[in-house]
Amino acid sequence: MGKGVRVLVPATTANLGAGFDCLGMALSFYNVFDFELGSEGFTAAGEGEESLRASGGRLIYRAWQAAYRYRNRSAPPVEIRLQSNIPISRGLGSSATAIIAGLFAANHLGELGLDDHELLLLAAEIEGHPDNVAPALLGGLVVTADGNDESQGQTLHYVVLDPPDELQAVLAVPAFELSTAEARSVLPKSVSHQDAVFNVGRAALFVAAWTSERWDLLGKAMDDRLHQPMRGALVPGLTEVLEAARGAGALGAALSGAGPSVVALTLGQQAAAVSEAMGQAFQDHGIECRIIRTTPAKQGAYLAD
Ligand code: HSE
Repeated sequence: MGKGVRVLVPATTANLGAGFDCLGMALSFYNVFDFELGSEGFTAAGEGEESLRASGGRLIYRAWQAAYRYRNRSAPPVEIRLQSNIPISRGLGSSATAIIAGLFAANHLGELGLDDHELLLLAAEIEGHPDNVAPALLGGLVVTADGNDESQGQTLHYVVLDPPDELQAVLAVPAFELSTAEARSVLPKSVSHQDAVFNVGRAALFVAAWTSERWDLLGKAMDDRLHQPMRGALVPGLTEVLEAARGAGALGAALSGAGPSVVALTLGQQAAAVSEAMGQAFQDHGIECRIIRTTPAKQGAYLAD
């Protein structure tokens, strides 16, 4: 047996409504990746295993190689085995786990010495946006903003906020897949100043509500005008599912990442009614879905003992 590591990386829910491309939260279920130096090879079992096998682990290998290239080293051959526990192409950060796992494993097995900021920059470049990869690496709720600093070059500003113990997340996961590329293709090239102001206020309100535990404000804070109205055309019943979640007592609800899953944030006692209401609302639109009840995760990517 060659030298190896096991890396666990959490699911994530991005945007949380108004925080398009800048807010993301880790969830308490993890993909498990085994890396073993020696020969190339990729196997996958579990959620989306056929598509994952067909992909040959392309995204994981791309990230693996990017980390070595960053240090001007060539990447050694590695065998990767994935236990997939996160539904794929559902807006739950499955591809972010692949990228983070590849970078994280390379950093450890290659002793590359990359810090979190360097890992995040590489990950965001591969993914195209930072809001899933940041909580996948760091856990918690992560606020990200990319920037170009004249003295330092490309930078990513980020802050990790711990999730409170009492919060739960209910996910309604439709049976159909939606690629992020397709969900981004329906977004307009420009938006009105009024809509931009609407979202800036709500994204800021979400973070303020989170840090001051003003759960009564989360519902308003998760309203959005930058992506959900356009993506509704790709997710039948989206508006009604969001309304059903709120009507059943969710603190707030939003499309999870690029969709098609919907995430509702609840306090413990509301989760059962919210699950039921969201499932029924999708069903009323002819969409089969399953419900995953989980919690925000403090723990980002980590090495198993
Ligand atoms: N912020 C991204 C989007 C997340 O909504 O397109 C993709 O998972």
